[in-house]
Amino acid sequence: MKQNLGISKLMSVKQAYNSWAQQYDTNENKTRDLEADALRQLLSPFYFSRCLELGCGTGKNTAWLMHKCGFITAVDFSRQMLEKATQKVISDKVEFVEGDINREWSFASGEYDLVTFSLVLEHIKILESFLKKRPLT
Ligand SMILES: C[S@@+](CC[C@H](N)C(=O)[O-])C[C@H]1O[C@@H](n2cnc3c(N)ncnc32)[C@H](O)[C@@H]1O
Repeated sequence: MKQNLGISKLMSVKQAYNSWAQQYDTNENKTRDLEADALRQLLSPFYFSRCLELGCGTGKNTAWLMHKCGFITAVDFSRQMLEKATQKVISDKVEFVEGDINREWSFASGEYDLVTFSLVLEHIKILESFLKKRPLT
């Protein structure tokens, strides 16, 4: 019997974001837009010196955070999402890093006064160990 496998069964999360990257900013997506509003409302009174943005995607929030932070390390494992982000955000206050946040955080070091991970936790395999992770010292 022919099986009707959904696309999510055939693709890894990374592959799925690589193929979604071209449309991520332009598809109708109320969750994405609501999260953008919530982050801006929550963080607008503050200024941060060092920010670690995990799962930055196409830089939707990076573009706003760069005005609120002295320096941002923005990490994602989808090269195509990062490509979109680097076209959108051109600043010497931002470094984009291709990295897997489920693995050791070799992309991070020292202290951060803001660590953000918007719309990312659903992709984290073991939440408890993720939330206990620390940058390398
Ligand atoms: C729903 S998008 C959110 C993007 C952005 N934070 C935003 O709010 O628009 C989730 C992002 O997490 C990234 N991601 C998922 N699992 C990851 C992992 N293990 N390591 C790094 N990035 C990951 C995906 O590539 C994707 O860009």
